[in-house]
Amino acid sequence: MRKKIAAANWKMNLGATEAQALITDIQALPHALKPHQEAVFAVPAPYLAMAVAAFKGKTGVGIAAQNCSDKASGAYTGEISVGMLTSIGVSHVVLGHSERREYFHEDNAWLAAKTDRVLSAGLTPIFCCGEPLSVREAGTQNDFVAQQLKDSLFHLTAEELLKTVIAYEPIWAIGTGKTASSEQAQEMHAFIRQTLGQQYGAETADQISILYGGSVKAANAVELFSQPDVDGGLVGGASLVATEFVAIINALP
Ligand code: PGA
Repeated sequence: MRKKIAAANWKMNLGATEAQALITDIQALPHALKPHQEAVFAVPAPYLAMAVAAFKGKTGVGIAAQNCSDKASGAYTGEISVGMLTSIGVSHVVLGHSERREYFHEDNAWLAAKTDRVLSAGLTPIFCCGEPLSVREAGTQNDFVAQQLKDSLFHLTAEELLKTVIAYEPIWAIGTGKTASSEQAQEMHAFIRQTLGQQYGAETADQISILYGGSVKAANAVELFSQPDVDGGLVGGASLVATEFVAIINALP
């Protein structure tokens, strides 16, 4: 069975005291992760070590960086290497979030290099893809997303792809309160799986977890996650509220 994943993306929010309190509140709320389920917390870099320590020994919980360098080490002021991340016990890295693509000009080729770097360190990439509103309105979202996958992931071996999580996040649904309908999500997720299948074979594509992101909240998680190709969510705003995020974890099938 494919892994079902609830991934929190805190983005650039919370002070240290609030971050610690949010983790404490989440831990205090009842949730049990089944063996095929995972909760991942993509926290700001200064809190990674704290989050790793807070969840130490808890099976099914991963801690993610929100970005990393494509370089191994050296004179890259302000950057964070995968070696640093593994050395403190981080397990995942979110790559290619639309905010990084838009504000920090990360393109498909750069993300291909980052994906390689993350995989080479034994970390799990959560590779984000998704189209802007203009592309959705033009009806060319499938081509757009297929290109992102081809340019950034299709050089991977099947073995490497199997270590990768994909998050489909339509940009028009991020932070807007405007969720894709479960039909729209399912349609794109099925297309992504089919595209992966054409390159790697259906058996491999079948094992890849594809998360949906964009205004996921407790109120819509069950419906979204009940779609056959939606394997969980990458959650921004709602992941900053303990009750919301725990309800989203509990909505995993
Ligand atoms: P949102 O963000 O849940 O606040 O829409 C999702 C994301 O950007 O990962």
